Amino acid sequence: MTYKIGLLGLGTVGTGVANILLDPEGRNPLLHEIEIKQVGVRSLTKPRSIKSLGDRDLPEDYCTDDLMSIVTDPDIDIVVEVIGGIEPARSLVLKAIAHGKHIVTANKALLARHGDEIFTAAKSTGVYVMLEASVAGGIPIVQALKQALGANRITSLTGIINGTTNYILTRMHEAGESFESILADAQKLGYAEADPTADIDGFDAADKIAILASLAFGDRIKLDRIYREGIRNITGTDIKAATELGFVIKLLAIARRPEISPESSESQELDIRVHPTLIPKHHPLASINGVTNAVTVSGDPIGEVVFSGPGAGSGATASAVVADILSVVAALKTSQQNHQDHPKINQLMGCSHQHYASVQSIDKTINQFYVRFITRNQPGVIGDLGTCFGKHLVSLESVLQKPSLESSSENLAEVVIVTQRVIEGNFQAALAEITKLPSLYNIPTVIRIL
Ligand code: HSE
Repeated sequence: MTYKIGLLGLGTVGTGVANILLDPEGRNPLLHEIEIKQVGVRSLTKPRSIKSLGDRDLPEDYCTDDLMSIVTDPDIDIVVEVIGGIEPARSLVLKAIAHGKHIVTANKALLARHGDEIFTAAKSTGVYVMLEASVAGGIPIVQALKQALGANRITSLTGIINGTTNYILTRMHEAGESFESILADAQKLGYAEADPTADIDGFDAADKIAILASLAFGDRIKLDRIYREGIRNITGTDIKAATELGFVIKLLAIARRPEISPESSESQELDIRVHPTLIPKHHPLASINGVTNAVTVSGDPIGEVVFSGPGAGSGATASAVVADILSVVAALKTSQQNHQDHPKINQLMGCSHQHYASVQSIDKTINQFYVRFITRNQPGVIGDLGTCFGKHLVSLESVLQKPSLESSSENLAEVVIVTQRVIEGNFQAALAEITKLPSLYNIPTVIRIL
């Protein structure tokens, strides 16, 4: 008996999946029991080249542009959704679940926004929804959180989970080029989309950390509760200053369970956010460069584990998709061997979260900050800044003044302040007051420190 796949989408990831499924030799022997029954594409005339077919296209009768016919086909066991976006992916996935198909998807945007209805539907029909490929491409972080690290009480996840922004920041550090010129280059190289908003402004990383946090902490996460800040405002001056201080700037996605005292009556809120972060240059994430992704997981009792690898691309993402197909097929085979018509869902492979996590507002989080002020170069300015911070209980770690490069025509100074770990709301209140100081010219940069 073979298990039949309906593949929705034959773009970068879909072609990678077809490549593996059509060339099983030397891989897991279960692949010999899996076949592509049908592939759903938007255009039947667009030529595609499949490496394992000698760079030829799939035979014509594999392909259809009627994607609904795939998700309702009684012959198909597993629907692989790699078309991306919300619609028609959402409707196709829900229809497939209603027809008893297991789902393997790489669609983080869909899961982060509509995971509740998809997993609820899957639970009532008794099918799997597998999502390894939705976060960090080829890195097996989803399986690790669901299974391999299952014995641990997870305390934090910290990740570089957007390759585009990591590529841009790496080049800004290495070559001192501007954000705009590297973005244009990344678009030419295919690392950044024509509309780069999802990557650059942190939406993609927020989708991914919502999925990871939900797996790590066992509750659903509402996307709009995640604080999000992208990398558009990072300048060459910030990169230079970070380097001088022994840091690198990375776009981090963070999810953690803040420590609370046993006496505290507060419900345990999660701290989940995405923002540029200064990280010490010897930290394991500091050397993750280019489009590579990495996630560190801290848990009790394991301590810290670091995963890194290719976070996107045809082969890496297809590797995760096909691993999920194999897991589902193995589970189906076991059920069949036990003569079960309706497979019992393996609890370690499913997602059964029912409740929403409370997520802390950013004001309540504890952070250390790096701030760059441009001020008039006159006596008392550093004293004024210190007074405002002190009034709002913000303790300072270091203060450094340099001549400002912002404007040669005015007598300006650059003051770089690093705070200690403080309550974010207090820090923001101090900044709001500093903004009104007559000696302040502007505040070009505020970056949190890991
Ligand atoms: N656009 C994503 C990134 C890849 O830059 O990491 C797909 O998740």
